[in-house]
Amino acid sequence: MNLKTTYLGLDLAHPIVPSASPLSENTDTARRLEDAGAPALVMYSLFEEQILDDQHRLDHFLEHGSHTFAEALTYFPEPDAYASANGEAYLEQIRRLKEHLKIPVIASLNGVSSGGWMSWAEKIEQAGADALELNIFYIPADFDHDPREIEEMYVNDVRAVRERTGLKIAVKIAPFFSSMSYMARRLEEAGADALVMFNRFYEPDFDIEQLQVKPRLKLSQSGDGLLALHWIAILRDHLKIDLAATGGIHDATDIVKALMAGADITMTASALLRRGPEHIQNLVIGLQRWMEEHEYVSVEQMKGSMSYAKVANPSAFERANYMKTLQSYRPERL
Ligand SMILES: Cc1cc2nc3c(=O)[nH]c(=O)nc-3n(C[C@H](O)[C@H](O)[C@H](O)COP(=O)(O)O)c2cc1C
Repeated sequence: MNLKTTYLGLDLAHPIVPSASPLSENTDTARRLEDAGAPALVMYSLFEEQILDDQHRLDHFLEHGSHTFAEALTYFPEPDAYASANGEAYLEQIRRLKEHLKIPVIASLNGVSSGGWMSWAEKIEQAGADALELNIFYIPADFDHDPREIEEMYVNDVRAVRERTGLKIAVKIAPFFSSMSYMARRLEEAGADALVMFNRFYEPDFDIEQLQVKPRLKLSQSGDGLLALHWIAILRDHLKIDLAATGGIHDATDIVKALMAGADITMTASALLRRGPEHIQNLVIGLQRWMEEHEYVSVEQMKGSMSYAKVANPSAFERANYMKTLQSYRPERL
């Protein structure tokens, strides 16, 4: 049985990859993932804010110092090249992981504005990462922000990072676009080599006693990724780039569904955080067992077998399903 797949030009032994999470912060934990069979590893993100915070502190320091030592300023590099303690620690972790692991390491850069943080794509490449995941996470709460400008911002981000690195780039996005298909194609045209679908929006909760908004991180459950599943099925045959499914991948059934929709790989974080790095082995065994029982000989054979390639009008198809779902429900107590 052949579980092999390819993603971002990487040959992977199977399609179950640990997604960005704190599991990659610790080298021993990352090695446990590798020992349990992870074919690659996506690192936790380096956030734009972490890099810029350092830069702002340095800006302040430079301005302050310039009153006393004006000539000293000329010795300082351009803002983009400023050292960032957070950034340097991140690069150090890439180097450490590369030194201790044999599997490919996909770094993750998380930002949205156009700016100096993008030059870290270059540094990430120099530090030895095998590919880059660019996570663009933006909550459009500004009433004056035209949606077309927001979409342009996404596209420009990808273009700008594309210009700064030769690494293959996966773009991790949320599903909240007026036209996901249009955006997916534009991101492909801008230079994305893969889409990672989808970012989770960690809705903070209201504390009604303290009248405060409190952060809340709820790990996902099996089946939480149905939205991604449908979008992957819609996009699969209209894009050339790779697709990764993230969100709610907890067992063999979740993996098979994502592959059949057309994903090249599945990514998992919550399941590994809940059950430990070794759980990846169970997922691989589960996938193998499912394939044996259903007489599939390869992952390639499964990939996209349930995509909407043959659906002439996916919008009408989804609308028909939507209507059928609502109309088929029968309340138990009436
Ligand atoms: C504790 C935690 C930390 C995470 N950190 C990151 C991160 O740094 N960057 C990122 O792109 N995604 C991050 N994620 C999102 C995961 O990579 C993943 O996309 C999401 O959790 C959905 O997958 P899951 O259902 O398997 O958890 C994090 C998730 C969790 C639970």
